[in-house]
Amino acid sequence: MVKDLLKGKKGIIFGALDENSIAWQVAEKVHSQGAKFVLSNAPIALRKGDIFELGKKTNSEVLSADVTHVDEIEQLFSDTKDILGGNIDFILHSVGMSPNVRKGLHYTNLDYNYLNKTLDVSAVSLHKVLQTAYKMDFINEWGSVIALSYIAAQRTYSTYSDMAQAKAMLESIVRSFGYHYGKKRKVRINSISQSPTITTAGTGVGGFKSFYAYAQCMSPLGNASSEDCANYCVMMFSDLTRKVTMQNLFHDGGYSTMGISETLIESCFTCQGECFDDIAERDRVMGTKKV
Ligand SMILES: NC(=O)c1ccc[n+]([C@@H]2O[C@H](COP(=O)([O-])OP(=O)(O)OC[C@H]3O[C@@H](n4cnc5c(N)ncnc54)[C@H](O)[C@@H]3O)[C@@H](O)[C@H]2O)c1
Repeated sequence: MVKDLLKGKKGIIFGALDENSIAWQVAEKVHSQGAKFVLSNAPIALRKGDIFELGKKTNSEVLSADVTHVDEIEQLFSDTKDILGGNIDFILHSVGMSPNVRKGLHYTNLDYNYLNKTLDVSAVSLHKVLQTAYKMDFINEWGSVIALSYIAAQRTYSTYSDMAQAKAMLESIVRSFGYHYGKKRKVRINSISQSPTITTAGTGVGGFKSFYAYAQCMSPLGNASSEDCANYCVMMFSDLTRKVTMQNLFHDGGYSTMGISETLIESCFTCQGECFDDIAERDRVMGTKKV
């Protein structure tokens, strides 16, 4: 096992809610590789309290900031500068939330105020974090910013709802800001498109069990866990990936390149022809014709 890959590096980790959170796993791994950081989450998440345990475990301060409020991000950055003694080298943006998904509203019946909230929390917040850092010149040269995405940015996952638009926008911000921050300060910005993972945000999506099982059957390497994701983040925050920027990096055991797999055909594909509109065609293909 490599040691001290992040020794001397400082950062901010957004989005550790409880020990299932991807950000929680990242914080533990990044800590074990020698980095120092501040943990941040929305006031309501701090009230839940688990994040303070993580703070103790990783010797990190916990600061409140709602990522939709620029003044709170500015305050967070200036407090972090005091706590860590200067500018930082990495940021993890592990934040997402859709009130439409939470309230179970169908995609054809979205509430547009909720849609604005989804986009603000889950995508525009990355721009707010980056723009604030850019103006304050808060990230050191060759610094690395990671945001977490999902393949619903490219493909339709019917119950992922307006989070699909949020992820598409998030990935677009990664590319657009990646150019400007790269030119100004050689800061690199990437998104990691992660497998379905059992967390509060993940399991809140309708049909999550099917998302998870289907991806598991399709991926030759199986779904990537939050711990696997944390290892990938360590590599992306390290100096070993200095020329990687403006990318959406699939971290999904091979899922994104698959069409159909033997596992799916043999063990999971239980269709008896319910999806056919044409009964004659169904009987011909499925061999279901009754005599
Ligand atoms: N779980 C999955 O299946 C999966 C797959 C791919 C990508 N992701 C993405 O990973 C990221 C982390 O999610 P997770 O699965 O670890 O779930 P999680 O619920 O543990 O984390 C989501 C975090 O967002 C925070 N948050 C929400 N609103 C906020 C606000 N206004 N200000 C600051 N923080 C706020 C929450 O407090 C929480 O800590 C999200 O972007 C999610 O979309 C998750």
